[in-house]
Amino acid sequence: MSTLPQSPHFRTALPGPNARAIIERDGHVVSPSYTRGYPFVIARGEGAMVEDVDGNVFLDCAAGIAVNSTGHSHPEVVAAIVEQAGRYLHMSGTDFYYEPQVRLAEVLSAAAPMPGPSRSFFGNSGAEANEAAIKLARYSTKRPFLVAFLGSFHGRTMGALSLTASRSVQRKGFGATTAPGVFHAPYAECYRCPVRLTPDSCQAECLEYLEDKVMVHLVSPDELAAIVVEPIQGEGGYLVPPPQFHQRLRALTQQYGSLLIVDEVQAGMGRTGKLFAIEHFGVQPDIVTMAKGIASGLPLGVATARAGVMEWTPGAHASTFGGNPVSCAAALATIRLLQEQLVANAADVGGYLLDGLRDLQRKHALIGDVRGKGLMIGIELVRDRTTKVRATAERDRVVDEAFARGLLILGAGRNTIRLSPPLVLTRAQARIAIDILDQSIGVVAGH
Ligand SMILES: Cc1ncc(COP(=O)(O)O)c(C=O)c1O
Repeated sequence: MSTLPQSPHFRTALPGPNARAIIERDGHVVSPSYTRGYPFVIARGEGAMVEDVDGNVFLDCAAGIAVNSTGHSHPEVVAAIVEQAGRYLHMSGTDFYYEPQVRLAEVLSAAAPMPGPSRSFFGNSGAEANEAAIKLARYSTKRPFLVAFLGSFHGRTMGALSLTASRSVQRKGFGATTAPGVFHAPYAECYRCPVRLTPDSCQAECLEYLEDKVMVHLVSPDELAAIVVEPIQGEGGYLVPPPQFHQRLRALTQQYGSLLIVDEVQAGMGRTGKLFAIEHFGVQPDIVTMAKGIASGLPLGVATARAGVMEWTPGAHASTFGGNPVSCAAALATIRLLQEQLVANAADVGGYLLDGLRDLQRKHALIGDVRGKGLMIGIELVRDRTTKVRATAERDRVVDEAFARGLLILGAGRNTIRLSPPLVLTRAQARIAIDILDQSIGVVAGH
């Protein structure tokens, strides 16, 4: 039984007095490095609806940056958390044993998008999962070099930041932020193809820079530990590569005995209509990293590797809080709900949403491209469809206009709106999101 209205509902002007007071206090004591766009202060959430501290209700198509996969406070996830919290909160899986962590590793071994058994390393965040993957790749191959992609986001700790090449502000002021031995290559950005091909005729020629330049002039292939790639680029603008991009990367890594690490932190856990986004591309990686949606909002990061790859000695890598038992319990409930119904719902409602947004594209010249899979959808705004000049200021205004109408969304890349709602989103709610976007884009476009 839902207790929140199922469509946006306002009690005050935005932000209301309670939100204003909290934001004022935040401004004095919380790190100013956070990039808050609009003044939303949550009081409670339920499914895909959230209520702010002034009683205003919003439809959430941001999900805490693609995290609340089962919706806000799904009763079965909350029950699993409460049950586990009543038994024990922490024991440290690095020095002791507990069953929920073993069970989660078993579930991931069965579900992971690679052949044969796998093993899992547990941390607390996406960055920590990628740190583990970087270290494991170097350890297991005994090779130093890593390749990642321009526009990618893999986290902000120093190792993960070496791979991240999303926005220069994430590196500026922090000194040398690329660890020695990390190189970047162009990603498949089909709407702005770096080699000016169209997806139907392409053989992922954008990878020629990697193959003919990076791996000739900079990296000896026999020293390449791994290629790290997002199956669908998230922070970079919700970019969906053609399958041949990932297939060519797999072939390349196999040719040189390197590992393929797929970062499923944002695209994974059912968001795209498959449990792992890489399953859309017919490729099996060696290591997959997960976080965000895996535990519905509790902190958990996981690096899962083919069993033969994850062979490192005791003490080589660990994390005190990693794989916290309460987070593991939340993840087990989350994955069960995803597999029972929510992955299928993401495919169904995602298809409906994508169709509705393509209708909007026919109506609004400001929309240059609509792309995505399942409930991972990007809407790229341009000032001119021929020149594709990026409509960055307009994108920011659309996000604000949507907020003013009760829809929470975020930007991604320089001029793209991302839709990453909870996977419980209904068709009726998707319709509301489409209508609010229609109005918001109309206002910004001036018609
Ligand atoms: C693809 C991807 N990898 C890694 C990360 C880092 O995750 P976290 O912020 O939990 O460290 C993110 C965060 O947005 C991400 O989108």
